[in-house]
Amino acid sequence: VSSVVSRFEVRSTSGNYPVLIGVGLLQDAAKHVDSLVLDQCLRNTVPHGESRDVLVQAGEQLKTLESCGEILTRLKERGLTRASVLGACGGGSVQDAVTLVASLYMRGISWEFFPSTAMSALDSCIGGKSAINVGPFKNLAGNFHPPRRVIIDVDLLDDLSTTALSSGLAEAVKICFARGPKVFSAFLDLESRAGVNQRPSVDAALVEFVLRQKAWFIEIDEFDVAERQLLNFGHTFAHALESATGYRIPHGLAVAYGVTAACLHPLAATTDSTEALVEYNRGLIAASDQHPQAVLPLLDPERFKYALENDKKGTPNNLIFILPNSSGGLSKVSVPRGQESSEQALYALEAAFATLAA
Ligand SMILES: NC(=O)c1ccc[n+]([C@@H]2O[C@H](COP(=O)([O-])OP(=O)(O)OC[C@H]3O[C@@H](n4cnc5c(N)ncnc54)[C@H](O)[C@@H]3O)[C@@H](O)[C@H]2O)c1
Ligand SMILES: [Zn+2]
Repeated sequence: VSSVVSRFEVRSTSGNYPVLIGVGLLQDAAKHVDSLVLDQCLRNTVPHGESRDVLVQAGEQLKTLESCGEILTRLKERGLTRASVLGACGGGSVQDAVTLVASLYMRGISWEFFPSTAMSALDSCIGGKSAINVGPFKNLAGNFHPPRRVIIDVDLLDDLSTTALSSGLAEAVKICFARGPKVFSAFLDLESRAGVNQRPSVDAALVEFVLRQKAWFIEIDEFDVAERQLLNFGHTFAHALESATGYRIPHGLAVAYGVTAACLHPLAATTDSTEALVEYNRGLIAASDQHPQAVLPLLDPERFKYALENDKKGTPNNLIFILPNSSGGLSKVSVPRGQESSEQALYALEAAFATLAA
């Protein structure tokens, strides 16, 4: 049985696109594209054809110029034209690569996205950003090429590990906190109802709620020059932490540490909301299979400071942080570069480890 539980539109300058959320939707959706780029871990779940589709290995190595060139070649071999519609089914790494591929193939073709991870269903599937890694630099290059439809079949999320669910929920709670205290508390109500048992759960109602909040940011600021930047909350820390641990923790868990570090930064305001946020992230980390005490030894402090100082958002004279303010919202804070600002950030991250391990 298949049924659409909810549907809404995302406005974008290159065309509005619908987001459909429901159960049993993928069997049909996968058949209606001309070629499907599929995460090979789903080859027994999602119908596909050897000569029509392209199976890929998910992960950061997929988000490279080499892999994207490989996919472009496969699509040509499969006979795709400018009028063809490409499909992509997988998590954020498949999405990041296919967004770029669809934008480049014959100068751009339409594509549809079928997210299969909590991270991609709750966050990355809308917004239209691609990102690839170049050399040692994660997400260095990319562009905007929104899909023409997003179809979220929540059945796909059933087999995710608790770590994968926690990772997606870390981005989800970040989005809702950034949207303001009312939305944040509505998220906590909805998620605690969904997750009374130990295992975090992600259902259609939660996906719709979170994506509608994200849609507000991307509709008001599609090209990431103002409000949308608040979604970088915790990410200056998270990206530096990922780099300083050799990418051995999933992005979402790094965001849980990063958001907590931002809450504990000396220039951040402490409020009831930030305390609830830290507590929520503590639950996510506890439910994951990576304990802070196991992650901390992986952290190279010098590499953390180096990555922090080379953050994309930084300006020649300042590091940029998105930090909680005293009204329960977020502010963009510029901190002059130097020994002190980097030490301060490292201290906040170490405090986050201590708090999340407690
Ligand atoms: N474009 C954006 O706006 C945006 C936003 C956030 C994150 N991202 C990117 O997304 C990536 C992280 O996303 P992700 O966690 O989805 O990564 P991913 O695509 O690497 O998937 C993580 C793992 O889950 C597996 N998997 C996929 N679907 C599954 C399923 N249904 N059941 C079980 N396992 C499944 C994959 O094979 C992979 O091993 C990062 O590269 C990050 O930079 C992009
Ligand atoms: Zn993120």
